[in-house]
This record gives sequence, structure tokens and C-alpha cells, in this order.
Amino acid sequence: MLVAVAAGVALLEGHHDDIEDLEDGQDSERQGRILFPFVSIVRFANTECSSASTLNGTCLARRECNDLGGTITGFCANRRGRCCIVSRTCGSTSNVNNTYFTSPGYPAAYSGGSTCSLIVHRCNAQVCQLRIDFLDMVLAQPDGDGNCISDAVTITGGNTVVPVICGDNTGQTLFVDFAGNTPITITITATAATVFSRRWNIKLTQLGCDCPGIAPNGCLQYYTGTSGTITSFNYGTAANQALSTSLVTGTRQMVNLNYGICIRMEAGYCSIQYAQAAGDPYSFTVTGDVEGADATVLGTALGAANNGACTTDFVVIPDPVVAATQVPVGTDRFCGIGFVPVVSNVKPFVLYVVTNANEGATATAPPDIANRGFSLAYTQVAC
Ligand SMILES: *[C@@H]1O[C@H](CO)[C@@H](O)[C@H](O)[C@H]1NC(C)=O
Ligand SMILES: *[C@@H]1O[C@H](CO)[C@@H](O)[C@H](O)[C@H]1NC(C)=O
Repeated sequence: MLVAVAAGVALLEGHHDDIEDLEDGQDSERQGRILFPFVSIVRFANTECSSASTLNGTCLARRECNDLGGTITGFCANRRGRCCIVSRTCGSTSNVNNTYFTSPGYPAAYSGGSTCSLIVHRCNAQVCQLRIDFLDMVLAQPDGDGNCISDAVTITGGNTVVPVICGDNTGQTLFVDFAGNTPITITITATAATVFSRRWNIKLTQLGCDCPGIAPNGCLQYYTGTSGTITSFNYGTAANQALSTSLVTGTRQMVNLNYGICIRMEAGYCSIQYAQAAGDPYSFTVTGDVEGADATVLGTALGAANNGACTTDFVVIPDPVVAATQVPVGTDRFCGIGFVPVVSNVKPFVLYVVTNANEGATATAPPDIANRGFSLAYTQVAC
């Protein structure tokens, strides 16, 4: 089995196309292309192919898909290849582009157990980055102080520092640089003692160094498009049920964050505006007492704080002006429980996220109570 996998891999390594497999000897449409019994001159690219399921596969020869333990979902490349879905779960390795990493028994709930890891090797030496799409990522919440003590996603081996995260992260995407040939390991801790219906389905795309989809240096996350919504890890519409050590409502915000979120500047656009996501008063609750705040404060300019008031948890937006007045804000640090829309024209478009080691009410002033993080709508502004 190991030998077979290695052979399939070798075939993938040197080039991006593939020979047709000849296991369907009776397939008459192939007659005429065959030179002699076990070699074919027909080649096709190993591109992404869609399938009947919600997952996309990679177009491979049938035998190659079988060697990789993949699932064939249909034809591709004018029926010369097979759309092959490669899916892995705990304790495996992969060097196949577009591999899915799922919880055991996915999509059924997973009750937890020993740590679950996938080791991802580069599929070839021209790959620089691993794009990690949390298509589905539901783990137990952090404790009330923001520590991922029960469940956690830890990503190591790359050239990018990735914070430890947990909770609800469906839809989040991370970009992690490979450090040369060192594999990137994704480890999911899911403590069985915490009764929780967890599950995950992660898509792993290997990006070539010259791939237009690659994230710039320093960007753990990378958004494209002239408008969109960026949310902090584990942002959600309900409070964390866990209490903090001082027995007040806990936080959804993770401790020890320090990362960049970049937005690709689209052609014809020169600056970017950030505002709280519409209709959600909790959409910027980064420091302070969310429960103690009333509707005149939560999510309003009164709840907003910046500059020297932000020493523990904050977002950094370079050189902003107030959107409504175009007056310089005079600081790049924002925190509190409200956010006044700002515009920045510093390139690249980037927002940094910083949290300290305590997201609970025992934190140094201001105490953090029931913070959820942020959900900010961004809009690029035409030149
Ligand atoms: C499958 O491919 C299509 C077209 O390229 C894309 O829009 C879709 O997001 C992909 N789905 C997944 C799960 O990657
Ligand atoms: C992996 O597949 C994606 C499409 O899902 C493609 O854009 C990318 O170039 C592929 N990577 C390599 C190294 O071929």
C-alpha cells in the first residue's frame, strides 16, 4: 500500500498532467489512442473538478485515484480522467492538492478522543503556501477567559505563526507558508470529556509560488473582492456559555492573537472603509463589559474606544480617517464595544488583530465581559 501511494505521488510530482489509465480495456472510445497495451499518449491536466457531492475533486487517472485511497465521483478531461476526492482523517499524511481533512465519521458528530493530526507535504517544490479552508469547523468553545482548553486547532511546521483557535470557525480561511520541504501539521485536539457535537471538514489547497491566489507575506487571512465581511475567530451570534474565572459571562474571543488580515486592492480602488456589520450591535465587542452596557452604548460611538484606551485587545488600522468627516483619527488602535467607521488608504490594505493572554473579567482594566470579537464590513473606495 505504501509503495502504491509513493508511485502515485511520483507520477504527480514532476508535472501537472497525467497519463490516462488503461484499466477500462473494453472502453471503445479509447481505441486508436493506445500505442501498446500499457502506455498511452493521452495526457490531461490535474485540475480541480466538481462532483455530485459538495466537495470538489482533482482530475486523476483512475488507478492513481485508487492508489491514493481516493473516491471517484465521475469523469473529467473528456472522460479520460476521473474526478477523485481525496479525503483523510486522523493520523494520516497527504501530498495531494485539494485534500480534505475531516473529523472521524464526518458529517456525523465526533465525540472526541486522542489528538487528531494530518501531516501535509508539499506536492511539488514550486508550492509556497497552503490554503486552509474551514468549510465546516465546529469545536467546543474556549473557557470563559478565552483559552482553548478543551478543543483546539494547532497548525505547526510552516513559516507563518498561526494562533491556536477553537469554537465556531466555519468559513474562515488561513494561508500558511511552507518552510521549504518541511510539512505543515494540522492537529485537532477534541477532548472526549467535554460532551460536545464537534465536526470538521477542512479543504487544503496547495498554492504555487507564482499563483495569483497566494496571500502576501504577513497575511494569515486574505480577502478578495470590493466588499465583504471580516470576522474574528469564533465570532458568533450567541454568548459563550462558559463563565470566566470571576464567574461572569465568558468571552468568544481567543487569547494571544497577533495576526494580519489583508484585503486585495482591486483594480480602480484606492482606499478601504471599515464599519461594524449592519444590524448587529455585538459586532465590535473587543474590550470592556458587554453585559453592563445598554443600547445607547453597545455598538455605538459612545462604546467606541481608541488610542491609549486600547492596551490589551485591539485592532490596528493604519493611518485612518473618520469616514463621515475625513478627519484623521490620529491613532491606529481601536477597541471597546463600538466602532466608528473609518477609511484608510495605506497599502497593502491590512488590519491587525491583537489580544493579550486574558479575555476574562480578571483581566487588567478594562475587564472583559462577554466579548465576542468583531465582524466588520469592508468596502473598497474607488480612486
Ligand atoms: C468547487 O469548485 C467551484 C468552481 O471552481 C467553486 O466555486 C466551489 O467553491 C468549489 N467548492 C469547494 C468545496 O471547494
Ligand atoms: C491546486 O488546486 C488548485 C485548484 O483547486 C489550483 O488553483 C492550484 O494551482 C493547484 N496547485 C498546484 C500546485 O497545482
